[in-house]
Amino acid sequence: MPVKQIETIAVTGATGFIGRALVGRLAALGYGVRVLVRPRAAKTYRAGRGVEVIVGDLAQDPALERLVAGTRAVVHCAGRVRGRSSGFRATNVAGTRRLARVVARQSAQQSLVALSSLAAREPQLSPYAASKRAAETALAEEAEATGSAPWTILRPSAVYGPGDRELLPLFEWMARGIAPDLGPPDARFSLLFVDDLAECIAHLVRAGAATGAVHEVHDGQRGGYTWDDVARAVALLSGRRARRVRVPAPVATSIAGANLVARSLFGGAPMLTPGKVRELRHPDWVCDDTSLRSATSWKPAVRLEEGLRRTLFPATGAPLEVPQVH
Ligand SMILES: NC(=O)c1ccc[n+]([C@@H]2O[C@H](COP(=O)([O-])OP(=O)(O)OC[C@H]3O[C@@H](n4cnc5c(N)ncnc54)[C@H](OP(=O)(O)O)[C@@H]3O)[C@@H](O)[C@H]2O)c1
Repeated sequence: MPVKQIETIAVTGATGFIGRALVGRLAALGYGVRVLVRPRAAKTYRAGRGVEVIVGDLAQDPALERLVAGTRAVVHCAGRVRGRSSGFRATNVAGTRRLARVVARQSAQQSLVALSSLAAREPQLSPYAASKRAAETALAEEAEATGSAPWTILRPSAVYGPGDRELLPLFEWMARGIAPDLGPPDARFSLLFVDDLAECIAHLVRAGAATGAVHEVHDGQRGGYTWDDVARAVALLSGRRARRVRVPAPVATSIAGANLVARSLFGGAPMLTPGKVRELRHPDWVCDDTSLRSATSWKPAVRLEEGLRRTLFPATGAPLEVPQVH
């Protein structure tokens, strides 16, 4: 449905994997989009048509005030997803709380859609998971304290698509014929293509009223996938069946520990940490999207095979052709 008049949506995390897809979708729907971009990223960030940039950080009230002023809705995609344990709370919990306070001060009518994670279901697994759960609690506390319009929290399953840095390397290994076996063989998990998540958020923004609920969201595959299912889908695209290579838990943990030390010596935010290994080895990351389906009419559109084709072969606009698997 086209937007009747130009309404502006504020987005944090616009330079990230999910934020980029969301900004593109909102702009395509005719919204004005105002984005928060950190100073370092602002040097290279290319704002598209209808996108206004506010340079700043989640730690800065004045930047957040400029970001949300007069907007119809705020979508909070910014978050720390990798790195050592120390940084997660400052960005994910304190940053989320600060944004919620600024939104509440500006208007009680503004809705806030915040991206949490399925990891919040298992906060004991890692500092990241704990910070995502604590961020959800912070939002509930702020809404209670200020009596502000409630939020909607989305807990996506693992999100993949062009521009992803976490799952893409794993899919690429599979396409080359190697399927690293990082978790238990019967582990199940849900997936979601990034454009579907962007569309889901846009749907919530269009609907206006925040649901005040936490919704899990996935690609429509009830019961999720195993790594074998994913490897089979990649094999259909690459024409090469991947050989499973077991990575025993102690080996993965040792690699993660060494990775942490190396990153603390040479800089950068490590992705594979002991906490991330515990997340990967968790047997059940299957979403239940019942509450989302009853609260909205949004439906996912991209199935795994199509999502993998767009992720692994983004230049191929052609319909999916199934090559011979040997
Ligand atoms: N990707 C997934 O599979 C997945 C699954 C479930 C939930 N999520 C959640 O979805 C959100 C986005 O994830 P993503 O995969 O898009 O991550 P990403 O690519 O790492 O993007 C993170 C974004 O947050 C921004 N950011 C980080 N710290 C900030 C701060 N202190 N102030 C302002 N902005 C800050 C980053 O800015 P810079 O560019 O300046 O670093 C970047 O724009 C996160 O909340 C994550 O927990 C992701």
